[in-house]
Amino acid sequence: MQGFRHRGVALALSAAIFCHASSTVAAEPVAADWPNFGRDGSEQHYSPLNEINVSNIGKLGLAWYYDLESGFTVSPPVKGDDKLFTTTGHSHIRAFDAACGKLLWEFDAGVREIAQSPLHMSWGNKGIAWWNGRVFLTTTDGRVIALDDNTGQPVWITRQFELTELRNSNGAPRVFDGKVIVGHGGADISPVRGYVTAYDANTGKQLWRFFTVPGDPSKPAANKAEEVMRPTWKGNWYGKGGGGTAWNAFSYDEELNLIYLGVGNGFPYNQQLRSPGGGDNLFLASIVAVNADTGEYVWHYQVCPAEQWDCTASQDMTIATVEIEGKPRKVLMQAPKNGFFYVLDAASGEFISAEKFARVTWAQGIDAKTGRPIENPGIRYQDKPGLFELWPGPQGAHSWLPQAYSPRTGLVYIPVMDVGALIGSAPPDATGFTAGMGVTLIADADLPGSRRSYLKAWDPSAQQAAWSVELPGDWPGGVLATAGDLVFQGRIDGYLVAYDARTGEEVWSFKTVAPVVAPPISYSVKGKQFVSVLTGNGSQGGGILATGNAAYRTDYALPRRLLTFALDGTATVPEFSLPDLVPPDDPEFNANDDQVTAGAIAFATGACIVCHGTDAIGGGAAPDLRFSPMILNPVLFKSVVVNGSLKLRGMPSTPGMSDEVLEDIRNYLRQRAKQAASETAAPQLRDSLPTHSKKNDASEA
Ligand code: HEC
Repeated sequence: MQGFRHRGVALALSAAIFCHASSTVAAEPVAADWPNFGRDGSEQHYSPLNEINVSNIGKLGLAWYYDLESGFTVSPPVKGDDKLFTTTGHSHIRAFDAACGKLLWEFDAGVREIAQSPLHMSWGNKGIAWWNGRVFLTTTDGRVIALDDNTGQPVWITRQFELTELRNSNGAPRVFDGKVIVGHGGADISPVRGYVTAYDANTGKQLWRFFTVPGDPSKPAANKAEEVMRPTWKGNWYGKGGGGTAWNAFSYDEELNLIYLGVGNGFPYNQQLRSPGGGDNLFLASIVAVNADTGEYVWHYQVCPAEQWDCTASQDMTIATVEIEGKPRKVLMQAPKNGFFYVLDAASGEFISAEKFARVTWAQGIDAKTGRPIENPGIRYQDKPGLFELWPGPQGAHSWLPQAYSPRTGLVYIPVMDVGALIGSAPPDATGFTAGMGVTLIADADLPGSRRSYLKAWDPSAQQAAWSVELPGDWPGGVLATAGDLVFQGRIDGYLVAYDARTGEEVWSFKTVAPVVAPPISYSVKGKQFVSVLTGNGSQGGGILATGNAAYRTDYALPRRLLTFALDGTATVPEFSLPDLVPPDDPEFNANDDQVTAGAIAFATGACIVCHGTDAIGGGAAPDLRFSPMILNPVLFKSVVVNGSLKLRGMPSTPGMSDEVLEDIRNYLRQRAKQAASETAAPQLRDSLPTHSKKNDASEA
């Protein structure tokens, strides 16, 4: 594959006009920087810069670009010390001169070499952090690393979990007040007990660790948090793990000295297995506020009590002062997977309001007095025969791609999805993707009205949409808001688009070659403002849920780039003609139904689906195997899948796989290739498709 094409062509010609060779860096106000995932602890994804604004946006052009290798490229860059830092999903870090894009150094954390299981190579890195001359990263295999921002050399390296544990750390580390906050995932596939760890940014020494589900019930409660959690669990949960991994979101408020943790789903999903006899099962699917210095419990709010459909509160938590009943109040705002937009008091956790921002069937509403959901009858699947619709499904009405908030408009800009699922009970020993969790959950069911996405501007005071734009595909990009009254968002059809923050009118767009889902950032160097973003797909549940984007070219092999824009930028990206997607010619093939079915199950229950996609439709995380000539060659196929010949390119090996299973999978893929050959509509880019972009009135939102 052509991962390293054009590498080193960092400087487009016109970039020279932005490049200042001077080494004396004036002390710039913080407004110029973007040190954390959401810029600062408030996670607003808002830049106070306004050189680029609604009046002059027409002059925004590409200043420079840099070509990256294939793989996950979905994280926002960070900027500090006049340098711009990027990561790929496998934690290959690069530092650039933030003005002109000159590559300064590279550091590859060696994830592909070190990885012990497919888990370590899936769900690539979502971001990095910068603080006080250092760049901080977590690797999927559990390392936490601080690099010198001048040299790229490690200053300290520590581990949050052992290499043998079934955990995967892919969320962006945050640095709040000299503390590095890290979490991890794993509760979708293994019986882990979640926790969040804080390290001293200077030394790497562990400062505190907060467990998100209780420990061994035969021992005395370790702390206040455990006293709060314990009575909400029944039966012998300990040893089953419980789950509650905090894989994505953390926020911080300096004045309140609180760090907020966004906690994930339970393991197993089915509460009857996890906590027979019920209980809320704290802190699953909860926002937890802890003391920033000690990690001690302060308050919590649970968005899905007794979670059992992969409901998480791992979505970003925006801290802002907004008007509530006519008075300014510091609030925490979250649009979690479950489809309700929550406004809580940031100091006390008091419930203020919640309304639906997407299609929701699991609950009617949230009780204003208790702050608890009013669940719809029959929504819990235990003892219920058959499958029924669940909205939102496990993809969520909003996932990890962040929302943005503009203090100038008072609106929250949310990447919203309407993706329904089918759900029903399953015996714990049944086979199937999530059946071991005691549930049958078809995450990406083909339901009417499903697989749609929007950018919605949400008024948190009125709890309703101010405007909404329908987007192509069902994986809307992360959002940036700026003081220039602009909202930037990438799209699956390969466009980076800017909207008027007040009206939702599309005011600018730039055509890249690959999808853009990573959140853009904005920063300045010597007063000149830039907007920067990575291109490339590959983050949708790792790469599983690709069906809703199958009409677009999201190929693994599309060029992935760091693109940086400025006013009067005139650089262009090189021409790239998309290769035709042609299934290999396989006239001899006669499908053996049993073998194909066995192969489909092995593909789904083995790790393949995570990177190569549902129904083997590639979503950009890995090649689309329906178009791979390798599926006709049993020897090559085995060398890749069993012997790991492409491991250093991100394709994990499965050494224990029998020849029989290997052949089942290969035949399933040949069958999928045959089906692809008979499908008339091959994926296209936006140019040859009717545009899906449509501005709606608030009433339709
Ligand atoms: C962690 C993600 C991941 C998982 C899990 C995974 N793959 Fe891959 N696979 C990749 C990537 C990335 C590549 C492309 C490597 C490269 O650049 O050459 C790849 C390449 C391949 C190729 C070669 C395709 C070609 O035309 O070059 C085959 C065949 C393949 N994978 C089969 C499988 C099967 C079968 C499974 C399950 C047993 C599986 N993969 C699991 C990521 C993954």
